[in-house]
Amino acid sequence: MRKGKVIAVAGKGGTGKTAIAALLIRELLNAQGNEDVCILAVDADADTNLPDALGISYAKTVGDIREGLLEEKQRDFTLDIRSQFEGKIAGIIAEEERYDLLVMGRPEGPGCYCPVNHIIRMIIDTLAKNYDYTIIDCEAGLEHLSRRTTRDVDVMLVVLDTTLKSIKTALRLKEIAAEIDIDVKKLVIMANKIPDGADKMMVGEAKRYNLEIEDIIPFDPLISEYDTKGIPIVDLPDGAPSVIAVRRIVEKLL
Ligand SMILES: Nc1ncnc2c1ncn2[C@@H]1O[C@H](COP(=O)(O)OP(=O)(O)OP(=O)(O)O)[C@@H](O)[C@H]1O
Ligand SMILES: [Mg+2]
Repeated sequence: MRKGKVIAVAGKGGTGKTAIAALLIRELLNAQGNEDVCILAVDADADTNLPDALGISYAKTVGDIREGLLEEKQRDFTLDIRSQFEGKIAGIIAEEERYDLLVMGRPEGPGCYCPVNHIIRMIIDTLAKNYDYTIIDCEAGLEHLSRRTTRDVDVMLVVLDTTLKSIKTALRLKEIAAEIDIDVKKLVIMANKIPDGADKMMVGEAKRYNLEIEDIIPFDPLISEYDTKGIPIVDLPDGAPSVIAVRRIVEKLL
């Protein structure tokens, strides 16, 4: 895969998007030949779980910036609003040693000021071009992606688990992705939390809905344990089954 790419992780709530996004970042950074890559991690879920999965902290969200500037706007609205946003968004990016993190935070409120959201999207599109990879941990659902985050997605990883509901959500995501005004170049369906021996059954069930599962990440008790104890998912051991599975996915993506 060429550099400067945007990878979004989407799917039904609770299927493992955040865990997978965190492990993708870890394995992209660890991949051979990727010693110097820079990654932008974007937490696009209002619930903001990615920082914990990565074991890092953040101070402010894009939502905070938007609300602050909208208040200022009522007093002093200048034509220079885009550079004001640009400067403020650059200022809230959490910089880690090998990657940066941008937290979207709360979506726009009822008094949505659409031009501002459009400006934010353009800024993030521009920002993503400065990184080798941008990994977006999406909110459950897809509409927010066109509304708040980025326009073009090179790879959309749609995660499902052993539930029929998640298969149906994946199907809807696939349909919506084809309709909305974001350009999804490649859509990959992956099944997560799959118990030993259930691979074939999952592939078969998804096929009934015309979904081709391309990757399987096994149920990994260590992920639940780390999540329960509040240990960052990125600190999982190299040999953990989920880590090995994500490593293979990264090798394929590269
Ligand atoms: N491969 C796995 N094996 C075992 N448990 C897993 C696995 N992947 C995720 N989990 C568990 O599933 C739950 C949901 O994971 P996660 O928070 O990553 O999902 P999500 O899709 O980001 O959820 P949300 O939609 O709420 O953001 C967590 O309790 C996590 O520990
Ligand atoms: Mg999540």
